[in-house]
Amino acid sequence: MTLSAPAQVTSTEPNQHGYRAFSLGEFRFSRDEYFVYVEWPTGKHVMSADAFLKALQRDVAWQFFYGIVNFDGVVGTVNHYGTVDLFAGRYNDVYRKAELDHMENFATPVIKATFEGMLDDWTNEGFDPFASPTETGSAFGVKNGNNRAAITRHRVTAARMVGVPGDEELRNDENGHPVNRHFRDVPQDEPEKRAEPGFENDLAAFNLFAYLSRSQVTWNPSVVSVCGDSLYCPTTEEYILPIIHGNDRVEWFIQLSDEIIWQVEDRDSGSALAKVTFRPGDVGAMPADIRHQGYAPKRAMLLVWENADPDLPALISSGALPSVPVEF
Ligand code: PHB
Ligand code: FE
Repeated sequence: MTLSAPAQVTSTEPNQHGYRAFSLGEFRFSRDEYFVYVEWPTGKHVMSADAFLKALQRDVAWQFFYGIVNFDGVVGTVNHYGTVDLFAGRYNDVYRKAELDHMENFATPVIKATFEGMLDDWTNEGFDPFASPTETGSAFGVKNGNNRAAITRHRVTAARMVGVPGDEELRNDENGHPVNRHFRDVPQDEPEKRAEPGFENDLAAFNLFAYLSRSQVTWNPSVVSVCGDSLYCPTTEEYILPIIHGNDRVEWFIQLSDEIIWQVEDRDSGSALAKVTFRPGDVGAMPADIRHQGYAPKRAMLLVWENADPDLPALISSGALPSVPVEF
């Protein structure tokens, strides 16, 4: 095995606001006190620094996720699982028709290193991009320290199921994981387990609601069970999903508590398709040819059910599999 050298990150000296600018191929990223600017040969885009950092944080932590991560209607990434496209205007009908869109492909370690460098340099002390707006400080202003502890959090992945021997350390517990202010009514008792003698290590059960009630982060699914390619990824949501996710496979949502309003658009053009409100107990599939963004008026529990089969994107894009799980 050969180990490649760490990817080179191209950045400038800090500007008058204290922030470095970063280059990736023909893309250039810079920030000032309020905004992030993205430039490419045929265009220039501006985003709020706080929205940009929340999207960047998830793209980095999720290793570019499944399919497309749109930071907004213009800029984002496409995961090819080994390489990543960085695009501007590629999934926006108006930019496409005006031929102002731009896309470049990078080896995953190269774009990851640049994104990590940008996230590190542009996240100020006290701002946690994973936290809800009322539970964190401000992203704005001149450069002020860093928040490395928050931005280097990784999605916790269970090898089997949370609670099974070997995965116990993944459990949230009272030490440092207080119940969130919106979940004080969630019972914290654990289920009673009665195993036949000899099966004590094989039977596991835990209170998923109690587990989720202590989550410190929002819009960050964690894998709590793995069964073949079937991943259960529950998460707690509040305010707006910081990315617009373009699917490359079907994913299922099970609304466990409270309410989330999903805005659904055509994946490629961005044109509006539907607004769907999920209430507790609602189950729905998001097709493989859409993009979606969720709005949660108060902290809500959501189970995202993913199929990790690596063959799915090709099977769906070739037409061998439909984009929907059921044809009515
Ligand atoms: C999604 O894009 O399906 C998604 C992402 C993050 C969440 C929930 C859903 O927290
Ligand atoms: Fe999604």
